[in-house]
Amino acid sequence: MQKVSVFGMGYVGCVTAACLARDGHQVIGVDVDPHKVARVNAGDPPVSEPGLPEILRSVVQSGRLRATTSLEEGVDASDLALIAVGTPSADSGAVDTRAVESVLRALGSHLRVSKRRFTVVLRSTLLPGILEQRLAPVLREASGADSEEWLRICNNPEFLRESSAIKDYDAPPFIVVGADHPQDAEPVLDLYLPVPGERFTVSTRTAAMVKYVCNAFHALKVAFANEVGVLARSLGADGHEVMQLMCRDTKLNISPAYLRPGFAFGGSCLPKDLRALTRHAEEHSLQLPLMPAILESNENQLRRAVRLIEQSRTRRIGLVGLSFKANTDDLRESPLVMLAEILVGKGFDLCIFDPGIQVTRLHGRNLAYVDQHLPHLARLLCDNSDELLSHAELVVLGTDVANALDRSSLTGRRVIDLRTDLGRP
Ligand SMILES: NC(=O)c1ccc[n+]([C@@H]2O[C@H](COP(=O)([O-])OP(=O)(O)OC[C@H]3O[C@@H](n4cnc5c(N)ncnc54)[C@H](O)[C@@H]3O)[C@@H](O)[C@H]2O)c1
Repeated sequence: MQKVSVFGMGYVGCVTAACLARDGHQVIGVDVDPHKVARVNAGDPPVSEPGLPEILRSVVQSGRLRATTSLEEGVDASDLALIAVGTPSADSGAVDTRAVESVLRALGSHLRVSKRRFTVVLRSTLLPGILEQRLAPVLREASGADSEEWLRICNNPEFLRESSAIKDYDAPPFIVVGADHPQDAEPVLDLYLPVPGERFTVSTRTAAMVKYVCNAFHALKVAFANEVGVLARSLGADGHEVMQLMCRDTKLNISPAYLRPGFAFGGSCLPKDLRALTRHAEEHSLQLPLMPAILESNENQLRRAVRLIEQSRTRRIGLVGLSFKANTDDLRESPLVMLAEILVGKGFDLCIFDPGIQVTRLHGRNLAYVDQHLPHLARLLCDNSDELLSHAELVVLGTDVANALDRSSLTGRRVIDLRTDLGRP
């Protein structure tokens, strides 16, 4: 059992406070709004949420939850504070952190006197970097904690949805705690001992980002399904049936497949089929911005790779992989062919290693594509990785062809791995 204060008696704070108290913790809710505080103390939820009235009434009656407008009272009655105040959009769309900052400043000054062991946990949704660069300094300056160990700062993003918040609290997709040191996360993880689900202790930036990515993905799914519905309707298909069937593929569709930050997609199908959908949408004025944006996003990824290579300030490049993925000789719309074409055009001295490609065996559209984009491919290809390595000042790993290279041969070399490096700091 822990002594916990929850700042913000809104949708997240009220549910969290009530559930923590139900699970045996001694909880005090803090809010600047005296009306909300009075309602919590009367066992009457200030927000509408199925199941909350029963829990709140019971925990207030048992004395395990009370609320106050006094920050000092909240801090004094707890060893751990969960901050769940609002982080609305500013006019610019940026995160408005004023409420969080004001709580942390006051909380820090109050703790400054006692300097007792205390854990501050940001539950509000905040972009990565805000906690580390703006909020932690505010808290440390106000409390005088600097790098002292008595004050621990973590984040613990919330994944509940309004209207099913209690159910979501009791069966979360996972519990994520961001902390600089794994031991800092322990008191936070202990709060959720009765709650099932996998636990992950990660960096504070990863924890903050996961929350945004989940919400962006949910929103993307809605918009994607809606665009499919419009397209299907226009093409005389049943969008509901289409999406139901699409979701039955748990190998490639509803799965981790394709969900890693990497290089651009390509090949003979994805770009072509997206173009066909986009063209149909344009011809029928369907106003579907998502589908063409996928191709635009893909082209930007190619440009990013070019920029990264240019920034290396090297001229002799060794490219590993040329077809759109390993173990095929299909070069049609391979983003690596496009990359090679751009690099050659910019005057880079390029050498390519892809054992799956034999120029003499290319034919049909595959050959036509290469003739159009890399007419001198035969001169660029090298026979083995040693040849590539002796040529290259910079090795660019493009596909899983790179997995067959002896890793030690890359030690001490300048390497860009397009499969991972575009998604890393
Ligand atoms: N609503 C959701 O479904 C949901 C889900 C996950 C995460 N979140 C995130 O959780 C955070 C809180 O969201 P919410 O919907 O509960 O907000 P909310 O607006 O319902 O509640 C915020 C509460 O904070 C109080 N408050 C403001 N300043 C305060 C201060 N200085 N001291 C104490 N209390 C103060 C307000 O009076 C209000 O009651 C946001 O960052 C939000 O993005 C929300």
